[in-house]
Amino acid sequence: MFVDWSPRYSIGVAPMDEAHKKLMALMNQLHEQRAASDGKPELRRTLKALADFTIRHFREEEAYMQSIEFPGLANHKLIHAKLLEQLNEHANAFETGDGSLPDQFFTFLKVWLTAHICGIDTKYAEHSRAKH
Ligand code: FEO
Repeated sequence: MFVDWSPRYSIGVAPMDEAHKKLMALMNQLHEQRAASDGKPELRRTLKALADFTIRHFREEEAYMQSIEFPGLANHKLIHAKLLEQLNEHANAFETGDGSLPDQFFTFLKVWLTAHICGIDTKYAEHSRAKH
């Protein structure tokens, strides 16, 4: 297992926790597919599913932050845009490459999870708790 859900990843906002679990499941799937030496079409399909779900999650999360009047929304949006840009760069490198996904890509995914979910997403969750 590449990443295993644990309470330390919970930010206490149920729909966002569910979305983060789904992101992890897709990351795990990609990792397993690489370990099984799946072909480029299979990896591409999961990579696309991860990118599509990420876009959807970021959109929903930004709408949620807006609904709770989170003052850090603009900055969080910039961080999301940067993450999507990096994900795109990795996807492009995959397309033009030999069909493999390098360790560097999985390091990026892991840093995203630990730094973004635990360090950045928790901020709007704290704001939400303080507000209610
Ligand atoms: Fe859950 Fe800001 O991504």
